Amino acid sequence: MVTRTFEDLQIFAKRRKKLASLAGGEVLVLFSGKDQHLGAFRADSHFVYLTGFEEPEACAVIRPGLDPEFVLFVRPKDAVMETWEGYRHGPEGTKDIYACDQSFSIHELSKKLPELLKDAKSIYFDLGKNPDHDRMLLEARRQAPLLNRRSGQPPVPIRDPKDILAPLRVIKSPQEIEWMREACQLSVKAHQACMKMAKPDMNEKQIHGCLMFHFFDQLAQQEAYSSIVASGPNATVLHYRDNNRVMEDGDLLLIDAGAQKYFLNADITRTFPVNGKFTEPQKQIYQSVLDCQKKLIPLMQPGFSLVELQDKAIAILTEALVELNLLSGSIKDLIADKKYQKYYPHGIGHYLGMDVHDVGLSKQDDKPVPLESGMVVTMEPGLYIPLDDPEAPLEFRGIGVRIEDDVLITDKDPEVLTAGLVKEVKDVEALCQS
Ligand code: GLY
Ligand code: MN
Ligand code: MN
Repeated sequence: MVTRTFEDLQIFAKRRKKLASLAGGEVLVLFSGKDQHLGAFRADSHFVYLTGFEEPEACAVIRPGLDPEFVLFVRPKDAVMETWEGYRHGPEGTKDIYACDQSFSIHELSKKLPELLKDAKSIYFDLGKNPDHDRMLLEARRQAPLLNRRSGQPPVPIRDPKDILAPLRVIKSPQEIEWMREACQLSVKAHQACMKMAKPDMNEKQIHGCLMFHFFDQLAQQEAYSSIVASGPNATVLHYRDNNRVMEDGDLLLIDAGAQKYFLNADITRTFPVNGKFTEPQKQIYQSVLDCQKKLIPLMQPGFSLVELQDKAIAILTEALVELNLLSGSIKDLIADKKYQKYYPHGIGHYLGMDVHDVGLSKQDDKPVPLESGMVVTMEPGLYIPLDDPEAPLEFRGIGVRIEDDVLITDKDPEVLTAGLVKEVKDVEALCQS
C-alpha cells in the first residue's frame, strides 16, 4: 500500500473539485474491486484517482455540488480478518485520513445508496463489471425517486465513468508527470541491467527475474503488465509471455516491460542482440524500425493525432518493407491492400497513465482526437517476420523488432521520458557488451 501524506491527499481533493466544475447533480458510484484470494490486489484506476484509497471491497459515492459530496463505504474493522489479510482502516479511520464527508461499513451500502442517488440527474457507474454491484445499483436507482415521493419517473440514465474521467485522467498534472518520470526512469534502469546481463545459453526466465529484481529493488509498486521477454523467433509473437526459452548465440532479445509506481505505468520495449552484436539482416530490420520511430517522435505535438501518426507509420514502414524486399509493388497499393499488416500488425501507440492502455479516445465522432500538452503517449513501431513465412527472404525469417518509448506531449518539443535507454545500434551494442 502507498503511504499517503497530507500533501498527497490534497491531490485527490483537488481532482474531486475539478470534477465538480464538470458535473452538477451527477453522481459517481465507483468500486475499488474485489480481493483476489492469494493474489495481488490493485484498486480500480478511476476509484484511486478520485479517492487515494487502496483497499478492496470499498465504494465511493461522489456527488459534486451536493451535500454530502464524498462518501466512502469500506470494510469494517475485524480483528480476525485483519490477522488473515492485514490492516483495514475501517469507517472511522477512513473518515479521518481520506477526508470524506461521511464513511460507513460497506455492508450498509445497499441500504444507504437510494438516499445518495435521490437527487442524481445521472449516475456514472461501470455497468457489467460485477453482477452483484449491478443489481444493487439498479435497485437503488429504482428506489431513489420514491424517496422524493416521485413515482412514475423514468429512471435516470447510467453513464460510463470514462465519459467524465477520461478527459481529466488523460492530461497529466505536473505531479503526475513527476511520478511518471520516476516510473519511467526506474524501468529504464531495469532494462539497462537486462541488456548487460543477457548472454547466450541463459533462459528468458532469468532475464525476467533481472527485471523484477530491479523493479522491486527501486521500490516499484508492481510490474505494469506481464513482461514480455522474447528471444529469437518468440519476438515475432506480439503478446509472448511464456518467457521460458534458452537464448541462442545470434538471437535478438525483445523485452517489453515497465514498472508501476504511484499507480502510474511505464511501458518500454527494446530489442538487442544477446551476444552483443547485430547480424547484418537484424541490423537492417532494426534500423528501419528505429528510423521510423525517430521520424515520428518529433510529430508528437499538440494538433497531431494518434490516427495521423499511425498513417505515417504505415507509410514509412511499408516503404522500408519494399526496400528490404519483404514486399513488392506500388507503395500506394500495398497500403490500400493493407499488405504491411503481415509484418506490422499493431497500432503505433496509446495513451499511458494509471492504466497501461490508458483512458482517452483516439477518435471521437469518427474524427481523430488531437494530442494535447500533458498527455503521455507511447511510440512503438515494430516489424515482425514470421519464421515460417515462405515469401520472406530467408535471412529475415524469425526476426522481430519493436522499439517503444514513452513520450510527454508539451507545447514545445516532445519530451521522451524513457530517453535514458539507448537505442542507436552502436550504443545498444556497447551497452550489451559492457
Ligand atoms: N506492453 C503493452 C503495449 O506495448 O502496448
Ligand atoms: Mn505500449
Ligand atoms: Mn509495451
